[in-house]
Amino acid sequence: MRIKIAPSILAADLARLGEQVNEAIAAGVDYLHIDVMDGRFVPNLTFGVPVIAALSPIARQAGTPLDVHLMVENPDPLLDEYVRAGSDILTVHVETCPHLHRTIQRVKEAGIQAGVTLNPATPISTLEEILPYVDQVLVMSVNPGFGEQSYISTCTDKVARLRRMLDEHNLTAVELEVDGGITPETAPLAAQAGATILVAGSAIFNKHSSVAENVRALRAACS
Ligand code: DX5
Ligand code: ZN
Repeated sequence: MRIKIAPSILAADLARLGEQVNEAIAAGVDYLHIDVMDGRFVPNLTFGVPVIAALSPIARQAGTPLDVHLMVENPDPLLDEYVRAGSDILTVHVETCPHLHRTIQRVKEAGIQAGVTLNPATPISTLEEILPYVDQVLVMSVNPGFGEQSYISTCTDKVARLRRMLDEHNLTAVELEVDGGITPETAPLAAQAGATILVAGSAIFNKHSSVAENVRALRAACS
């Protein structure tokens, strides 16, 4: 199966964000990954609703979905705003949602796709009851908060176990996304373990090669 690529704009040259997003779209990426960080759940502070709203028309015109990864404590109060701003997929951390089912239900009722994600130390058993309700599961292969960290190698087995869990529950349409430390070296590990979407920040937006070359290299590594 062809692996899908979701560039994280966190690694883009933010002084020319629109240009970088257009380069990624022209390179044929499958999603745009937006890392929303609140300085509480994770130490870093990044973008929120206004940046999603600014990118939404560009993404919509290209038909490239906005994959929004919420690294925020208690995402519930702003859910409607994230939806209105143009998110196509909203992914929440199980660690931040005491009423996870309600949060996921609200995202689905808003008419967009819902995802759920896990920190590296959170076991996949925490997902068992929610899996039938989600469109996407995201395995964090670094501790969230920063780009350019190294892939945690035990996450490959976690992805494989989650792939089995999805298959056993006949949830083969659920996307299995991996985020953090994805490079041409680690991408095939995640892909072979059963990932369907790879998030990549610094491997796509960097000074060494163009966005198009980097996307090609990731795809080639997985084929
Ligand atoms: C980490 C973010 C990732 C990050 C990936 O908290 O969720 O999306 O930007 O960056 P790289 O690919 O550089 O590890
Ligand atoms: Zn992310």
